[in-house]
Amino acid sequence: MFKVIRVKNYEELSKEAFKVMRACVKPGAVLGLATGSSPIGLYKEMIKDHKENGTSYAEVSTYNLDEYVGLPLNHRESYYTFMHTNLFNELDIKEENIHVPSGLGDIEKKCVEYDEAVAKAGGVDIQLLGIGSDGHIGFSEPGTPFDQGTHVAVLAESTRIDNQRFFNDLNETTPTQACTMGPKTIMTAKKILLVANGVNKADAIKAMLEGPVTEDCPASILQRHADVTVIIDEAAGSKLTKY
Ligand code: F6R
Repeated sequence: MFKVIRVKNYEELSKEAFKVMRACVKPGAVLGLATGSSPIGLYKEMIKDHKENGTSYAEVSTYNLDEYVGLPLNHRESYYTFMHTNLFNELDIKEENIHVPSGLGDIEKKCVEYDEAVAKAGGVDIQLLGIGSDGHIGFSEPGTPFDQGTHVAVLAESTRIDNQRFFNDLNETTPTQACTMGPKTIMTAKKILLVANGVNKADAIKAMLEGPVTEDCPASILQRHADVTVIIDEAAGSKLTKY
């Protein structure tokens, strides 16, 4: 079931997303987090609130959606580094409560262990998601079976082109694979918060909200989840006809 909140711009989107996230931050909470451009404003709001109001993350644990395969933790574009730079370093969260999938070593085994760890933590209370221009969630690209848990995904060419901006060049350094929560893992979250802005996301948002439930649009599986809040700006919602 979708609750769709339409806002004017990215600033409003981040503030609305913060309200939803803040309601879930309490001792013992398990937050599912995302990287990319979409959540950065929300993370800034969380940091501001922590500094100004003392909201504590000392008893909170986090599980991130994904990580590039082959990048060491301290690589400037690893999602581990992204999360520390954009959020964790500014909060009172404990390092041992932070979980980011590993893109190194025996990844297949680590993927299975990641889902086990999420389950052992009692599941994710709120899963934050962005959406790819091709409808991916996490890095589960079109065609990913809906019953797939955390796995190694081959990045779609369009995703690599979208992400090339962070790397020196497409062919040499933009990663080709990622370790990602699958649709099955994401669907176990008690609550989902998806944020999207910009016209680049308009087709994916339309397919997710108004199209058929199909593995061609991984985000469309969210139609089967009981509690999804979608926050979109004018551009991302510009192709909707029913909402
Ligand atoms: C990131 C992730 C991806 C992004 C998506 C949108 O952890 O899982 O699904 O949310 O690619 O990326 P941005 O926000 O950069 O447009």
